[in-house]
Amino acid sequence: MSTFPTVRLRRTRQNETLRSLVRETHLAVEQLVYPLFIAEGLNEPREVPSMPGIMQWPLEHLGREAERIARLGIPAVLLFGLPNEKDEVGSQAYASQGVVQQAIRRLKAATPDLLVITDVCLCEYTSHGHCGVIHNGDVQNDESLKLLAQMALSHVEAGADLVAPSDMMDGRVGAIRRILDEHGFSQAPIMAYSAKYASGFYGPFREAAGSAPQFGDRRSYQMDPANIREALREIDLDIAEGADIVMVKPAMAYMDVIRRVRDHCDLPLAAYNVSGEFSMIKAAGRNGWIDERRVTMEVLTGIRRAGADIIITYFAPDVAQWLKD
Ligand code: PBG
Repeated sequence: MSTFPTVRLRRTRQNETLRSLVRETHLAVEQLVYPLFIAEGLNEPREVPSMPGIMQWPLEHLGREAERIARLGIPAVLLFGLPNEKDEVGSQAYASQGVVQQAIRRLKAATPDLLVITDVCLCEYTSHGHCGVIHNGDVQNDESLKLLAQMALSHVEAGADLVAPSDMMDGRVGAIRRILDEHGFSQAPIMAYSAKYASGFYGPFREAAGSAPQFGDRRSYQMDPANIREALREIDLDIAEGADIVMVKPAMAYMDVIRRVRDHCDLPLAAYNVSGEFSMIKAAGRNGWIDERRVTMEVLTGIRRAGADIIITYFAPDVAQWLKD
């Protein structure tokens, strides 16, 4: 093997044109999904205190925001709802006039080509804040499946393009696939939050979505951050049950999981750059401790390099603009 001085790796780093010629990983706006929080009964957009620039949107403002997102070239949004009423079984999650169901109809009317993906999970709709039904202090798996399937069906009936179950109940992808097929929606794809870890990085999201568990935590259904072989089992089960796209979440502390999953299967792979990852960069950037734009691009490029095809990120509009600059 040749070595220095015949080999000089600095030769191809001399200027930006050369560097871009040999660049191995590309970040493009087509790969981004932007999460949106929609709040029932809100009059004006309300900024989430721990997530600068991220709003809870009233239904009436959605059309204009969707047009802005579409103009930036962002292909898809991921919807989360904040209902007026919560109860033990999350009834508003699968109500035809629920906040997300209304939001889907408005978005599809305003920007028909913008893909609408919906988060399928009960935690924003249950009074106890857990992702399924509770009996004897624990989340009941099989009973929750029926409600989650109803929720996914109601989203697709309202016009959602894809559904994304994030609850981490066993068997939910299969339950959703079955109910969609039975109702004539065999073309509606499922993006499964397959390897979703019980993470401290969801902190700001729980403020944004009003979904903090009122007792206990999510460790009996979300994954232990220490495990990676188990992530591959989750992925395999979701594929067997009919997932069209699989996901690893969070992203930054789980890049090894993204790489393993990418090497393990051939499905499109999404990574969720979650709320805490966003807030940390925003906070440090605002303090002048890091360069927000540079660090954001570095993190998202790292997630792509790890193997993600799709990145769900609160930075999507910023990145879309930076990619144009
Ligand atoms: C719902 C859900 C959560 C996130 C996405 N879907 C919160 C949770 O599981 O506690 C987190 C997203 C983020 O932190 O940006 N279950």
